[in-house]
Amino acid sequence: MLQIRHVTKSFPGVRALDDVSVEFAPGEVHAIVGENGAGKSTLIKIICGVYTPDDGEVLLNGARITLHTYKDALDRKINLVSQEIQIIPKSTVAENIMLDKLDRYLTHGRIDWKRINQDAARYATMVDLAVPVRQIVATLSAAQKQLIMIARALSSDARILVMDEPTSALTRHETENLLALLRRLKAEGVTVLFVSHKLEEVLAVADKVSVLRDGCLIGTRPIAGLTKAQIVQMMIGRDARTLDLGRLKVDAGHVALEARSICQAGRFHDVSFVLQRGEILGFYGLVGSGRTELAQILIGEARKDSGEVLINDKPTHIHSMADSLFKYRMGYVSENRKEKGLILSASIKTNVAITIWNRLRDRLGSIQLAAETTAARKLMHALEIRATGPSQVVGSLSGGNQQKVSIAKWLAAQCDILIIDEPTIGVDIGAKEYIHQLIWNLASREGKSIILISSDMPEIINVARRILVFKDFKIVGEVRNNGEEGAPVRGYEEVSQEIGQYLA
Ligand SMILES: Nc1ncnc2c1ncn2[C@@H]1O[C@H](COP(=O)(O)OP(=O)(O)OP(=O)(O)O)[C@@H](O)[C@H]1O
Ligand SMILES: [Mg+2]
Repeated sequence: MLQIRHVTKSFPGVRALDDVSVEFAPGEVHAIVGENGAGKSTLIKIICGVYTPDDGEVLLNGARITLHTYKDALDRKINLVSQEIQIIPKSTVAENIMLDKLDRYLTHGRIDWKRINQDAARYATMVDLAVPVRQIVATLSAAQKQLIMIARALSSDARILVMDEPTSALTRHETENLLALLRRLKAEGVTVLFVSHKLEEVLAVADKVSVLRDGCLIGTRPIAGLTKAQIVQMMIGRDARTLDLGRLKVDAGHVALEARSICQAGRFHDVSFVLQRGEILGFYGLVGSGRTELAQILIGEARKDSGEVLINDKPTHIHSMADSLFKYRMGYVSENRKEKGLILSASIKTNVAITIWNRLRDRLGSIQLAAETTAARKLMHALEIRATGPSQVVGSLSGGNQQKVSIAKWLAAQCDILIIDEPTIGVDIGAKEYIHQLIWNLASREGKSIILISSDMPEIINVARRILVFKDFKIVGEVRNNGEEGAPVRGYEEVSQEIGQYLA
């Protein structure tokens, strides 16, 4: 039994946890939910020895424990899968999985690599990671790295397994597999702490849920009989609204971007589509269906073998992200904000200003700091970024707030065409609504042309005006959605069924 009693933790300018008491029983999956910045990761880091509490105590099986480092937690069989991807890129899959106990494979000064690889393969299979264990991890996808981190936690036979948003980079299949694994661990008496913004997962796997808001524990409840709406109510202190974005007036005579017969060996064959000015075009499909890969070609980060990309009816020559941004005013908000897109050691304002340095530069070539701060402040307000101010270092923000900074950065760049890839993974429900509204406003008020890539069906149906359905690197269907002026109103069910037909 793990008990947290009256724990308080402050950082400069913020009380991240305020007198929090909660208990975790063996064989229980206990979800921890709350908005971005509510204190979830801080609580978890205290349980895992990464932070020490200012006040209060942690008890394990009735005895008070003091953890100074993560190693102390490991010794007590408390294991963390953190929100950030922590992996050694130049090492193999096996080394990364067995990282915490490589020393056990040392006999007479020699490391038994064969046994390491064998054992690692077992854990890789448990999490359904289909990569040879001798492969170097640097080039693997975010999902594969996430699975490696989970396999690593399993390899140390944790009695208390703590997972901070483990599914944010996973596909539906991988997620289902993970949830099944958690149920097995639970049956073995393991205590699982599970932080997630995906309440469907929480309802599917957890026995109990604890809700944090602004560092305070709002309550702990059994999941049985609880609805999603009730959890949201506890999280945000009001009922959730469903946003009706209305209709989008598109400048139908103007094509902002046209892709003509894009080919890339082994992947795309003759892919064409058109994005109109002021339109929000959805790219829907499962993770791995080619949506991000096509975006990479558009912005010059991946090579095409043939085909053309036209912007404002003119042929383009885009060989890099910089070309895309500065020559053609086309930006890309990366799906994978955990790994790239932000300088964690720099402030919010520096991160936001990176793409606008060209605009902010004064005649002498130095950056106008005041302008930088003003731009950052405006965006922080618009996106409700919770921070002490524009000077706060991005690395010290909560995960979801880091995500918002990464979106702010691209908004600041004032592109005409924006490709936004999975914008709401890891952000809370309130912020999700906000980001949807913001994308809508960019198109409807500022006439920006937007490609929205998402695997979240409600999101794409709510926000996109037209939806291209991707499967196996092909566009298999086009769905005219609500939002188009003059078009008949279509219900959610009708649109989602049509999308489903193309995917079948
Ligand atoms: N090392 C740190 N230095 C300064 N402030 C911090 C630090 N770690 C967390 N905070 C602040 O403490 C608060 C709680 O952050 P925490 O990371 O626990 O939130 P969270 O609930 O995990 O949010 P998210 O859903 O976005 O991951 C935030 O205001 C955050 O900025
Ligand atoms: Mg967090």
